[in-house]
Amino acid sequence: MNTLEAMAARYSYRGTYQNTPVPREHLMKIMEAGCAAPSGCNLQTTSFIAVDDPETLARLHALLRKPVGITAPAMICVLSQKLPSYHGRYYHVQDYGAAIENILLAITDLGYASCWVEGYVTDEHAIGRKMADILHVPEEYDLVAYLPVGIPAEEGPRVKKKPLTDRAWFNAFRKTQ
Ligand SMILES: Cc1cc2nc3c(=O)[nH]c(=O)nc-3n(C[C@H](O)[C@H](O)[C@H](O)COP(=O)(O)O)c2cc1C
Repeated sequence: MNTLEAMAARYSYRGTYQNTPVPREHLMKIMEAGCAAPSGCNLQTTSFIAVDDPETLARLHALLRKPVGITAPAMICVLSQKLPSYHGRYYHVQDYGAAIENILLAITDLGYASCWVEGYVTDEHAIGRKMADILHVPEEYDLVAYLPVGIPAEEGPRVKKKPLTDRAWFNAFRKTQ
């Protein structure tokens, strides 16, 4: 699968997973893809914890209100550091967005499924902090999202994307030529 094929194949999978472990070698490749992403002023504010220990996974899953990916044999937890960058601006959110997309593409390329789960982690219930505490993450890092990893048990539904002509143009706004 080349990069363009991986982009087309990636989608958010919320179904059940096969009970097949993800080899450490693959989890390393997936995290390497995250580390290869660009970051504002090269501050590399995003870091990752791959969780494949069943007991730790069960403790993390117990915190979740929506069971997205809870049958997956592994999970990448995405950590972000809010570091000041250029002229006092902050790019940590852009940084972890780029890193997560790299990770999702690597997951797809290796034949696994995933879903970017952030909403349920960072809302008013602050589940991310509780997950971070289980993983001994220091206070200066935020756990901003988790990404299940595993072989999907079935094909999941795909969302409809808007037509290209509604979102991408040439030379001027809404100009198609
Ligand atoms: C910032 C962000 C937060 C997201 N949070 C969640 C989430 O909490 N739960 C979930 O099921 N999907 C979440 N998603 C996945 C989106 O719902 C999904 O990407 C979108 O519906 C488009 O579908 P696709 O990924 O299949 O193209 C999130 C995606 C992004 C980019």
